[in-house]
Amino acid sequence: MTPILHDTAPDFDQPIAVLKHCHDRIRKQLATLDKLLAHLPEFGADEQARQAAGAVLKYFEKAAHLHHEDEEQDLIPMLRAVAQGEDAATLQALAPVILQDHKDMDAMWQDLHEQLTAIAEGQGAALSASTVQRFSQRYSSHMEREEGTMAPMALRLFGPEQMAQLGKAMQRRRGIGTEANPVPAIGQAVADLRKDYGQASLNETDVMDDPMLQFTQWFEQALKAEVNEPNAMSVATVGPDGRPSSRIVLVKQFDERGFTWYTNYDSRKGQELEGNQHAALLFFWSELERQVRIEGRVERTSSEESDRYFRSRPLKSRLSAIASHQSAPIASRAELEQNYEMVAQQAGDDPARPGNWGGFRLVPERLEFWQGRRSRFHDRIIYERQEDGSWTRLRLQP
Ligand SMILES: Cc1cc2nc3c(=O)[nH]c(=O)nc-3n(C[C@H](O)[C@H](O)[C@H](O)COP(=O)(O)O)c2cc1C
Repeated sequence: MTPILHDTAPDFDQPIAVLKHCHDRIRKQLATLDKLLAHLPEFGADEQARQAAGAVLKYFEKAAHLHHEDEEQDLIPMLRAVAQGEDAATLQALAPVILQDHKDMDAMWQDLHEQLTAIAEGQGAALSASTVQRFSQRYSSHMEREEGTMAPMALRLFGPEQMAQLGKAMQRRRGIGTEANPVPAIGQAVADLRKDYGQASLNETDVMDDPMLQFTQWFEQALKAEVNEPNAMSVATVGPDGRPSSRIVLVKQFDERGFTWYTNYDSRKGQELEGNQHAALLFFWSELERQVRIEGRVERTSSEESDRYFRSRPLKSRLSAIASHQSAPIASRAELEQNYEMVAQQAGDDPARPGNWGGFRLVPERLEFWQGRRSRFHDRIIYERQEDGSWTRLRLQP
């Protein structure tokens, strides 16, 4: 059984916590670089090395620049505007050091960038230990400086208005809209959006005999690569009229029995599954250029399993599950909240699981592992379950 542990990023209404979260992610990338240094002499640019190099490249090419811009264009100017006395003096000494760190780290990154690109493409296995060390040490001391001085100063000096201003600026920089500042109109035609894939490959010899073990390996790699919501999957069901519908749910468990999620049995998906057991799941791990398609039949989990999971949920989520007749229309948000309040007053601290809420498990019959490759020449490996329970494998054209 595979428990899901997923740490979430703070919201932009706490911009200093978001900056600290970025630091934690940088620390993880630096640790990956260290591991890569140890891995390469023994294994060369194997799949693991290629993935690790790809993940580090991706982070420092984009997220790290945004983080530097947050500080240079917003945080430091905003601090300058409010700091007085000793704070102003500290800032005057600190700001040029921070800006110089950014420049020097960018220059060091350029050296690493070339080496990591070659590794990610499987065309080289050289990584300079001294550059990694200098880069890592510089980043570490830089982050300590910021966390020890600049962040506490911002927390002390900024009121709610400045926090909101900083958070909004950081959101805009990442193309995330807010009610007051919607995302500017998309300048580029959607049809022109095009991304070439080339992080990894998938060969018949790379994959495991058991597709659930293969899935577990990919899932662990998705966790390591800090894929956004790696446990989110689309579930497609078919209605009595033969028309499909799909929605995202969170997989809560996967093991040799199949893939389990929890929901309301009276919901649209619940009703459709009642009439037609066949369903399809889809995971898309864009950061790794991977998708996994899974088809099979769906059964309910036992009531003991559903009870166990229900009890493990936070009380408010349990109350929401009781209060919501999922997929049924309701007149207003206010009415929905009234229903919740009523349930909260009556239910006590340990409410029983409602009979119409529980788990579904898809028992897989067919799984496809898809790895994006250059120029749309992707790899697709399919597993199909045979009557005796064994699996056959084949490759499909992209
Ligand atoms: C990231 C994400 C996770 C979700 N997780 C669940 C879940 O685990 N269970 C669930 O019932 N709905 C979940 N939902 C909501 C469903 O997508 C959907 O709105 C709801 O289940 C009703 O679907 P239906 O009317 O087709 O039955 C999630 C939505 C998102 C975007």
